[in-house]
Amino acid sequence: MTNMAYNENQELDNNTSKNTHFRDILEQRITRRGLIRKTASGTVALALASSLVGCGSDNNDSSSNNTTNPSTPPDNTPDPIQKPKTLNFTPVAKNKNDIVTVPEGYQAIVLYALGDSINPAFSGWDDNNIPSGPSFQFRSGDCHDGMSFFGLNSTTKRYDSSISDQGLLVMNHEYINPTFLHPKGATQPNGQRPEDEVIREMNAHGVSIIHIQKDPKTQMVSLVKDSLFNRRITASTIIDFAGPASGSSLLSTLYSPSGKQTRGTHNNCGNGYTPWGTYLTTEENFAGYFARAQNDNSKRTSAEITALNRYGIKEGANSRYGWETAVGSVELQDNYDRWSANASATTEKEDYRNVPNNFGWIVEIDPFDSRQNPVKRTALGRFAHEDCRASRLREDDNLAFYMGDDSRGEYIYKFVSDQKWNKRDINGGYAAGDKYMNHGKLYVAKFNNDGSGQWIELTYGKNGLNENNTVYPFRSQADVVTFARLAADSVGATKMDRPEWVAVNPENGEVYVTLTNNSNRGSKHNLDAANPRNYNNSEGAKGNVNGHIIRFREAGDTTTAESFKWDIYLFGAEAAMASNINLSGLNDHNDLSSPDGMWFDPRGVLWIQTDDGAYTNVTNCMMLAALPGQVGDGAKAITSAGQETVVGAKVTDQNLRRFLTGPKECEITGVTMTPDYKAIFINVQHPGEDSNSYDKPTSHWPASQTNPTSTARPRSATVVITRKDGGVIAG
Ligand code: FEO
Ligand code: CA
Ligand code: CA
Repeated sequence: MTNMAYNENQELDNNTSKNTHFRDILEQRITRRGLIRKTASGTVALALASSLVGCGSDNNDSSSNNTTNPSTPPDNTPDPIQKPKTLNFTPVAKNKNDIVTVPEGYQAIVLYALGDSINPAFSGWDDNNIPSGPSFQFRSGDCHDGMSFFGLNSTTKRYDSSISDQGLLVMNHEYINPTFLHPKGATQPNGQRPEDEVIREMNAHGVSIIHIQKDPKTQMVSLVKDSLFNRRITASTIIDFAGPASGSSLLSTLYSPSGKQTRGTHNNCGNGYTPWGTYLTTEENFAGYFARAQNDNSKRTSAEITALNRYGIKEGANSRYGWETAVGSVELQDNYDRWSANASATTEKEDYRNVPNNFGWIVEIDPFDSRQNPVKRTALGRFAHEDCRASRLREDDNLAFYMGDDSRGEYIYKFVSDQKWNKRDINGGYAAGDKYMNHGKLYVAKFNNDGSGQWIELTYGKNGLNENNTVYPFRSQADVVTFARLAADSVGATKMDRPEWVAVNPENGEVYVTLTNNSNRGSKHNLDAANPRNYNNSEGAKGNVNGHIIRFREAGDTTTAESFKWDIYLFGAEAAMASNINLSGLNDHNDLSSPDGMWFDPRGVLWIQTDDGAYTNVTNCMMLAALPGQVGDGAKAITSAGQETVVGAKVTDQNLRRFLTGPKECEITGVTMTPDYKAIFINVQHPGEDSNSYDKPTSHWPASQTNPTSTARPRSATVVITRKDGGVIAG
């Protein structure tokens, strides 16, 4: 693309603290009965139907909205399948092949790739005839990321955690690879992005909800293409705000002067799910989507400038994709103009100066209910959200959510609900979200060098979070959550090596966080025990080159604790590195670099995925399975940089081994399973991302998975992995 001087450091490095017409496809509240009356047949009906609630009822009073009297909770989880005592699949060797490689006896099948249709009215993907931008409202988005499976009870049409053969697979589409998304890559004639390209790009962002079924005999998984559940959330879908910042002038825009709604979610990276059966998507590198004019600071208050700089939306910033340059019809023009975050009118209610504050939130989506708008849960704070993991479910403990802010030197947070978990809220939908996610306490983590840690509360009026704060003049909890990074700065939180995904051990409630890497560690960011490495690899990378996984256990095993004990479960490294770098004792069967995606399955098997650029001269990115111990099972150690730290027990072949490698130039991210553990789903993101031109792909995956001589374009895709004998994965 020409004239796109966007630089990822704008977003990564800001902690200096100390067809179907757009209007039609956004019409989400149409009733099914009304639709059938209006459209006798055909394409339009099918297209619109995908935006309807999936239940077969024509009644507007969907039970999905009824949380005060939910149907009997489906507390019918099957007999638990035990965690394996050791890992016994054959470890996959490091390799650079252009396929997904899985252990002997397993098979990997591509399920859902960029551009695939989720509606019978729309044809499949064709490299030589790229589908229109608007049609992507009914197609897979790009850059698949976080993902969760929700069992579907075919009688009630609601969530049922015991069901494996029917389900809704919900996943993020983090960003786009414009080189392959458009017929000839992205274009910008006369400085303007073509409207069809911009619509395609906006629609290729967001979230997919797809109905899948699994044959209970063969374990083969397929998309139910004509299901009413299939739908897309995009960068233009109407979304409501809830929590302390909803209705604040900080969220006011020309589109929603009241500050109660916005359009879209984007850069959805890691994810989460709630115990009541909804999906949580995260807004990570949202900042780079906005442009700001050169002279905009002169029209801003000093507090506004402080906040914009801290979130990486500096004066004169270029946007990543140039959506603000598109010229469209009168009714659509506003959808492009909103990507310029400038004070161009008299007040914030008349322009888009505050639109960056509409992003950087946790978004709740009820996959089973398309009638209500998704909800941005502002109580959980605004930052480059990577993941949002619910605490272990215990009815005597407050529900909590653990979260990372993925930029260099950013923080780890938790939100503790005022409410204790009650299983009667299963299938409670957005009303349950209102109950658990609008009221509670936000905390940020401080890691001490002795293996202890504190949670510091981010509440207006406490810990110096008031008008007189020298970092930012906080005047309300809306200020605190909207500028959570500034609140965390002012209370002395610990700068971490890019917190990515979070996983909660179902056996003991311990919380694991991937810290993917940090080139600034040991230079701009001082070493400490929780971020203790600074070294070079043979290619000249520096800092914490290969990343690590920290874990902590709350005091008293309760989510409301304000202190914890921590150690470092795992250090990424090349097997051949010195033992004071390869501190976990990795060998060729389990060495890894840049851990990112991570999830404990309900048995207690930990799945670890990589998004790496440091070891890719040797191997493509990967996923490993692990059977970790617990905080404190190791010893103190000194790193090659001379920093003392607390390391978990060294790993072995039996408790950490490589399960999968991906195709060329991809990231492996997103992992979920059916409750019977017989199918595991992963996403392959941006294969062939180093390609310079649409006609010279460096990867041909997913076509290359079954055709080694394919010349097809690379596409991000979901892969389902099953055992050829139909058995339990890693069983
Ligand atoms: Fe989108 Fe932090 O990975
Ligand atoms: Ca990630
Ligand atoms: Ca990453």
